[in-house]
Amino acid sequence: MNKIKVSVPGKLMLFGEHAVVYNRPCIVTAVNQRMTVTAELTAQNTLTIQAPDVSIANLTIDYDANEADLPKGARFIFSAVKNFCNQTDWKSGLIISTHSEFSNEFGFGSSSAVTVGVVKALSELSGANLDNHALFKIAYQSVLDVQKVGSGFDLAAAIWGGTLYFVTGGKEIKPLLNNLSLVVGYTGIKANTVAMIQQVASAHHTALQKIDQIFDKIEQIVTLAKTELIQGNWLKLGALMNENQAVLAALGVNTPVLKNLISAALSSGALGAKLSGAGGGDCMIALATAETASAVAAGIEAAGGKVLSVSLNAAGVRIEE
Ligand code: MEV
Repeated sequence: MNKIKVSVPGKLMLFGEHAVVYNRPCIVTAVNQRMTVTAELTAQNTLTIQAPDVSIANLTIDYDANEADLPKGARFIFSAVKNFCNQTDWKSGLIISTHSEFSNEFGFGSSSAVTVGVVKALSELSGANLDNHALFKIAYQSVLDVQKVGSGFDLAAAIWGGTLYFVTGGKEIKPLLNNLSLVVGYTGIKANTVAMIQQVASAHHTALQKIDQIFDKIEQIVTLAKTELIQGNWLKLGALMNENQAVLAALGVNTPVLKNLISAALSSGALGAKLSGAGGGDCMIALATAETASAVAAGIEAAGGKVLSVSLNAAGVRIEE
């Protein structure tokens, strides 16, 4: 085999963002919009990247290049290739092309999806056939090499798919069976995840006890949400979303636009609503019933949000061709 195509789901954080960076759990689900990664072996000793979604038409890189000098869209791919080669003692010239069904502005995890896609593709092409935990380990190292921070929850969602209970760095990764459905509203603003993590880190530095109490509260919410989600107790789960949102607002990651879309969802009948991900922009999620879903979507749109059509519990990374 000298060419392979894999596809990887995007993700939505359900509960526990930010606290999961500090050794707490979160709940994440994979969404049905996918990223495809095609990898082809070549005889040249270089890596060529074709990633039109991030404006990279045809970029050829030497393996001894410095990752920090590369355009942003190429860094995760380069880092994933290098980490895979180092950890499996394998090497080849490569052409890697990517195509995403979702915009990298939504916060669906395009960087984590592309990283997982590259590691999985190389795992198959090289014959290493790594299991999920080994894929996670290489992908997590690759992301940390590029952005220095992050819990790895998005990589786990991309690899395992479904909905996961996840603890920092993959200390626990447990599938949670459920039939949740959500209304997802995009704020129109791309969040800078690393900047939001740094903002919380500096708050944590200056008010350690206060922020640790917020993380403890988030952990309690995640623990309760896990049970309500599995049991399909939507009223209780909605109330927990509202509680999680209040605590995230206290953490300082809410924005007026997110607040506005969340209020619109609640006043249109949602059982609960919260931001999803780092905050500062990206998406909000609302829990509605089959009867109220279209009114909630209309409420979000009327408030200026863009409702994205996604279903949850999508399959994890898989081979397409
Ligand atoms: C960002 O989508 C979620 C954060 O918890 C960061 C992370 O867990 O890597 C803020």
